[in-house]
Amino acid sequence: MCGIVGYFGQKNGVGAIVDGLKRLEYRGYDSWGIAAKQNGKILIHKQVGKIGGFELERDLPNFEGQICIGHTRWATHGGVTRANSHPHTSCDKRIAVVHNGIVENYQQLKSELQKKGHKFLSQTDTEVIAHLIEEELKKQKNLIQAVRSALKKIEGSYALGILDRNSDVLIGARQASPLILGVGKDEFYLGSDVPAFLKYTNKVVFLDEGEMAVITKNKSGQSEFEVIDIGSGKKIKPKIVKIDWSAEEAEKGGHPHFMIKEMLEQPQVIKKTVATEIEELEKAAELLRKAKRIYAVACGTALHAAIYGTYLLAKRNNLMVQPISAGEFSYFAHLLKKGDLVICVSQSGETADVLEAVRSAHKAGAKVLALVNVLGSSLMRMSDRSILTKAGSEICVLSTKAYISQQAMFAMLSGALSHKLPDVKKSLLKVADNITSILSEKSQANIHALAKKLAKVPNLYALGRSINFANSLESCLKIKEVSYLHAEGFAGGDLKHGPIALIEKDVPVLIFASPDETEKEIISNAMEVKARGAKVIGISYQNNPVFDEFLPVASLGDLTPIPAIVYAQLLAYYIALEKKLDPDKPRNLAKSVTVK
Ligand code: AGP
Repeated sequence: MCGIVGYFGQKNGVGAIVDGLKRLEYRGYDSWGIAAKQNGKILIHKQVGKIGGFELERDLPNFEGQICIGHTRWATHGGVTRANSHPHTSCDKRIAVVHNGIVENYQQLKSELQKKGHKFLSQTDTEVIAHLIEEELKKQKNLIQAVRSALKKIEGSYALGILDRNSDVLIGARQASPLILGVGKDEFYLGSDVPAFLKYTNKVVFLDEGEMAVITKNKSGQSEFEVIDIGSGKKIKPKIVKIDWSAEEAEKGGHPHFMIKEMLEQPQVIKKTVATEIEELEKAAELLRKAKRIYAVACGTALHAAIYGTYLLAKRNNLMVQPISAGEFSYFAHLLKKGDLVICVSQSGETADVLEAVRSAHKAGAKVLALVNVLGSSLMRMSDRSILTKAGSEICVLSTKAYISQQAMFAMLSGALSHKLPDVKKSLLKVADNITSILSEKSQANIHALAKKLAKVPNLYALGRSINFANSLESCLKIKEVSYLHAEGFAGGDLKHGPIALIEKDVPVLIFASPDETEKEIISNAMEVKARGAKVIGISYQNNPVFDEFLPVASLGDLTPIPAIVYAQLLAYYIALEKKLDPDKPRNLAKSVTVK
């Protein structure tokens, strides 16, 4: 899940490319590279590691160009080396390519090209694309036709930025992986995500599957673009959309990390969710009322929000919703029928397994309702109906504010279904207030002190029942992702069927408790682990003698889990700082998983 950036215009675009790569680094930070067209040559610079500290003027003076591309890599094919970093070029160095996605048939294409004499310099799948275009250019002089023919030979996913030494053209093309065109004044940008160029323009064209953007200069030297269907070559009328996120939102705003900045935005996110259009919620609720069977499909943190939603809809609306990890959904898709509803939850709206679930649902005649956070994302455009969650731009690889925005939106949906929206809204405003107090300096200092102790432990576990089960999973995912500490969440009811064997002296166990019928049982679970020496950390609306540490949450019924998770987010953040780790860029991870 790499990040690609492109620039075409009148100014030296390399600065914007470097800036864009720094903003897309959450998509992968194994290595990076840029290519710029200068005086009929293509300059290339590649480097292993993060782009973070790179300063263009200081580190790469005179590396300029009005047409340029850049890439930040999350390695899939070939190790983390300079040779495997993008851009990749053709043998004759005429074509340079940056790529996000996977060429699934690259080995077969590579051996065919090697038989034709092509020499490969990397172990990547991507390099095949540059050589394919070079091979097509031997058959036809027209670059656009050659690129289209080459792309038709590729199986898999791609978002591409393509440079040609011999012509003033920048090409962007997509199949499955996201690619956005930024429309500036007499200049254009390409980006895997809007933050890449939001500083320069908020007017964008979301390229659809199988489309390519061709950016050139017209006779009077002005920059212009057209969108073409890769398959047929037909021109497509582009839809320019205005993005209402500010560039500042995609900045740290003086905070040390995006993670803490985004956690501090959560009270506002809840208030924005409360302001969601009733009509939008009513229409979505209607889909649930009419559905024969309902599934909730997502990955990672979004799946945990979906699990919370399924318990809430069962409790408050007597609706059976089956949560399934999108990565496993294809093994059930053959059972889908007309009349079924698949609720897809995703922050980015670009997670490949979730998009695959949408395709399977539509193939079976089922409907898709999306809870998605990115306007214009593939999931939003592919779904029958979508509700935009109100987290705003989420940059940190760890999803925090998107999780509570998804939980809150399920609460709003449940309120619409039961015609009790005003009550839900009132309770959610109390949730926002409670999150504000959990994020107070005093509370953070308290959590930091606890994190100091937890940073030294090898294992940590979490338990929750019913609507708190999702938080036991999510709290451990956050701690795992950012501090590499082995953390595992379980449903309280599963404890005695195995996991209790893990409990030993001083092992910390988070207990999520709410004012409901599950409280007695989860407190019994707390006593069972305490009896085996565990340190019990109670995240609950009331204290209990079994708790060694008590983290108070407001008593908000089924919504109590929403503020409660903020404690686990803060613990994860401060444990990472104690372990001198970068909370924004955890190893081996990327913000959205755009390949299967
Ligand atoms: C969460 O912190 C992770 N970044 C990851 O699990 C994420 O939730 C998952 O990849 C789903 O992403 P999405 O919401 O963009 O679909």
